[in-house]
Amino acid sequence: IKSVGVLTSGGDAPGMNAAIRAVTRAGIFNNMKVYGIYRGYRGLISDEIMEFKTNSVSNIIQQGGTMLKTARSADFMTEEGRRIAYENMQKHGIEALVVIGGDGSLTGAAIFANEYNIPVVGLPGTIDNDLNGTDTTIGYDTALNTIMQSMDKIRDTATSHERLFFIEVMGRNCGYLALNSAIASGAEAAIIPEISIEKDQLAELIEQGFRKSKNSSMVLVTESEVTGGAMKLAERVKKEYPQYDVRVSILGHLQRGGSPTAQDRILASRMGVAAIQALMEYQRNVMIGIRENEIVYVPFKRAIKKDREISREMLEVLRISSI
Ligand code: F6P
Repeated sequence: IKSVGVLTSGGDAPGMNAAIRAVTRAGIFNNMKVYGIYRGYRGLISDEIMEFKTNSVSNIIQQGGTMLKTARSADFMTEEGRRIAYENMQKHGIEALVVIGGDGSLTGAAIFANEYNIPVVGLPGTIDNDLNGTDTTIGYDTALNTIMQSMDKIRDTATSHERLFFIEVMGRNCGYLALNSAIASGAEAAIIPEISIEKDQLAELIEQGFRKSKNSSMVLVTESEVTGGAMKLAERVKKEYPQYDVRVSILGHLQRGGSPTAQDRILASRMGVAAIQALMEYQRNVMIGIRENEIVYVPFKRAIKKDREISREMLEVLRISSI
C-alpha cells in the first residue's frame, strides 16, 4: 500500500489527535503518502482532503477533540454518497483508509470496504467503551477521569446538604462509564442499561434505604431509554419518597472534552502504529483492539455486534465496596 487516508467520525473522543498523529507518522515512516480527510465521511464526499507531512500533526498529542473535525454523515448512508466518496479516493490515489470512531463509524467502514473492496482498518475512538473484542477504547480513560473529578466535587455539596444525587453520564446503551466511575468515585450505585433489563435497580436501592448508615448518596445513571435517565428516576423518588432531598446532575458533553490522559495517548499511539502495520500485513475490515495489553485484530462484524457484556466482577466490586 502506497497511500492511506485517515479520518475521524462520529462523536469526538480525547486521544483521537494522538491517533491521527501516530497513523500519519507511521504511514510516512513506511514510505506511504498520508492524506488527512476532514469532517469524517462527509469530507470524503465533499473532497476535503489534504496531504499530510510529519509536521501536519505536530503539537496535537495533548489536545482533546479532533483536529480533523468530525461529523455524523447521512449522505454516507446512501449508495450514491459512498460512490462519490470512492471516486474522491481514486482521484487522490488513496488506496486504503484508517477510520477512527465508534460503532456507527465502523459500521459505515464495513459497508464501504465490502462495496468497493477497499482495505479499511478501524480504530476504536469513543468514550463509551462499547465495542466488542477490545478491553478499552480511545477516550474512555480520559472520560472516566473527568467524571471522577466531577463526582468528587458533587460529593462535597451532597454531604454538606445530606442529599441524594442522581448523576447522569454518557455511554448510550453501555454502562461501562457509569459503573467504573461509580467505583472510582466511591458512589453508592450505578444504574446501567445492561442490568435495567433484568431488574428494577431503583426499587432495589429504595428498598435498601439507599445507604442506611450514611446521610448522603450518589447514584450514577447511564443516559439511556432503558434506565430512563437521571431525571425520570429522580422524579420517581421525589414523588414516592419525599423524605429524600433529591438533586440531579447531568454531566453532558464536558465528559467528551479535555486533554487526554497518558493512558489514552499511549493507547492511541499504539493503535495508530498498529493500523498501518495491519494494512501492510494485508489485513482488511478489522478494528485494532487491545486485549491483556496486546494489540489484536478484531473483525468489524464482531467489533460492532451490540452484545458487549458488562463485567459481573466490577458490579460485584461496586456492590461490596459501597455497603
Ligand atoms: O458516542 C459518544 C456519545 O458521547 C454518547 O455517549 C452519546 O450518547 C452521544 O455520543 C451524544 O452524541 P451527540 O454529541 O451527537 O449529541
